[in-house]
Amino acid sequence: MSDSLPARTPPLGWNSWNAYSCAVTEDDIRDAADALVETDLRDAGYEYLVVDDCWMADETADGVLQADPTDFPSGIETLADYVHDRGLKFGLYSSAGSHTCQGYPASLGREQRHAEQFAAWGVDYLKYDNCGEHHGRDAIDRYAAMGQALENVNREIVYSICEWGTNEPWQWGRNVGGELWRATDDVIAKWQADDDEFGLGILDIIDRMAELDIAGFHGPHGWNDPDMLQVGNGPESGQSQHEPTNIERPLTEAENRTHLAFWCLLGAPLMIGTDLRSLGEAEHEILTNERLLAIDQDPLGIQGTPDRREGVEEVWSKRLADGGAAVALFNRGPERTDIHTHVPNTAAPVDAASYRLRDCWSGSEFETSGEIWAGVEPRDTALFRVTPQ
Ligand code: GLA
Repeated sequence: MSDSLPARTPPLGWNSWNAYSCAVTEDDIRDAADALVETDLRDAGYEYLVVDDCWMADETADGVLQADPTDFPSGIETLADYVHDRGLKFGLYSSAGSHTCQGYPASLGREQRHAEQFAAWGVDYLKYDNCGEHHGRDAIDRYAAMGQALENVNREIVYSICEWGTNEPWQWGRNVGGELWRATDDVIAKWQADDDEFGLGILDIIDRMAELDIAGFHGPHGWNDPDMLQVGNGPESGQSQHEPTNIERPLTEAENRTHLAFWCLLGAPLMIGTDLRSLGEAEHEILTNERLLAIDQDPLGIQGTPDRREGVEEVWSKRLADGGAAVALFNRGPERTDIHTHVPNTAAPVDAASYRLRDCWSGSEFETSGEIWAGVEPRDTALFRVTPQ
């Protein structure tokens, strides 16, 4: 495949939903654009700024989408210019149904007209949700209609399919022009959701990605998407306030580390979902860790898979383009635990006499003939880059 196609590696950026939910305004988007630049997140690779649900006016005139006159008074084109002027790409949201999940007008049956509007406004990325009436049309049909409409317009627009994994979008996402497809229900800012709670916690998504076993569908220009990042979020975030969740505290530093370590090992699209105006130093350090981001963006584009899941201990790994592997040692339990593995039990090649082990959190380097181990704190993940030498 040609490198001129979009999303050669998983897209990185920021999306408004987890931070602001339905209260998002154009001022929030401008602040997020400025913050992406000022905090060096843009330079770390987070280039897409995506406006999620609730940007539209309540009604469409003749099926033409319009921005909400109160919350987005300057209009989408002006906002996209502001974002582009800061060296970022601009993303927008609609749904493959009569309405969005929050009840605003959406794109089913009006795909071409809307795709043309998006292109004229300078949209670079479309997140396309699954809410509203489907008028008897199945998911493949509905998502293919927008895929075709985007292909017909004279602008490269990354197509982010948000179908929640209901109809196995990994099976057909690429075929309808998608560059990424949600594999799971919505992530919430919590370690583990209660049984009757809306959404999935970080641990729930890790478990779900292990069960789904869909790594074979994942690769350059087409990515399984375990949903956006909640690093930095807790009960105060817009989404936590808006959805029927029961969140008592923010994710801890260990939980945030495990969240990012797994999303990078999975080669996931990384969409930051926290309010960048109040981003803490620890969260900033996690999100900009270049050793982790290099694993996420590895050109081979392989999704990490579990090598061993045993009680509180988990070992996951993925092969990397330089001939090495990334190996994650995850402690699900409440006590510090020593977790061990050996190169032949991971995705690393077995034929080297020795290996360089780089701790992706600290940057420290070690040498090993094959044993990989770490003392891992509760809910934390040690992540190593293993390179044959
Ligand atoms: C769905 C999606 C979320 C978000 C909301 C917006 O729940 O899965 O990611 O876009 O809709 O309403």
